[in-house]
Amino acid sequence: MKKAIFTLTGAFVLAGMLSSSFAYADGPDWVPPIRDKLVKAECGACHLTYQPAFLPAKSWKKIMAGLDDHFGEDATLDKDAAQKIEAYLVTNSGRRKWNDSWGKPPIRITKLRWFVKEHRGEISRRAMKKAGTMTNCKACHLAAERGNYDDD
Ligand code: HEC
Ligand code: HEC
Repeated sequence: MKKAIFTLTGAFVLAGMLSSSFAYADGPDWVPPIRDKLVKAECGACHLTYQPAFLPAKSWKKIMAGLDDHFGEDATLDKDAAQKIEAYLVTNSGRRKWNDSWGKPPIRITKLRWFVKEHRGEISRRAMKKAGTMTNCKACHLAAERGNYDDD
């Protein structure tokens, strides 16, 4: 029952967040977890496997097109794996489409407006020291892999 309520709240928040050009005020407390083993293995080797619902389809396409220089790292994949992973990310991406009039599709979740707002003033020095960087979601959100961001 509790799970059902959680899921429902998550879906509701998600629907809300995706209806305002990714500039929504609040982050979702839950996003669907990643079920694909290939995505988990290849995109979870260096950091948390970020859930596709956090970014629109165009963002994932852009990220997948630039794996040879992925935030300064070479994250290149063979063609077959890359195609499968991109298909999964796009299929499960944020439902709201990116409109090019808003600018280039974002490739960082940590730069989205709701992300900045949600974390501003919320991070203790101790928590930041432990995490090292804001991209290390799991250091603070212990259930991040399950898509649960409401546990801190
Ligand atoms: C070789 C290591 C490596 C692999 C493999 C890798 N990444 Fe990354 N990724 C990074 C680094 C380094 C960053 C930048 C981290 C930072 O700024 O703290 C990053 C950042 C990201 C970000 C932006 C995080 C944010 O919101 O600021 C996304 C999204 C991302 N990666 C997606 C992917 C996807 C999708 C895959 C699989 C196709 C993948 N990564 C595989 C190293 C990797
Ligand atoms: C240094 C600790 C820390 C790191 C790293 C961090 N967060 Fe957070 N996050 C917090 C705190 C604290 C809050 C605000 C308290 C709250 O709303 O639960 C928060 C709030 C959120 C929320 C809103 C939750 C809600 O209930 O509305 C989301 C979504 C979220 N973070 C996602 C992420 C993602 C994705 C990453 C990694 C890319 C990340 N966070 C990295 C500490 C962190």
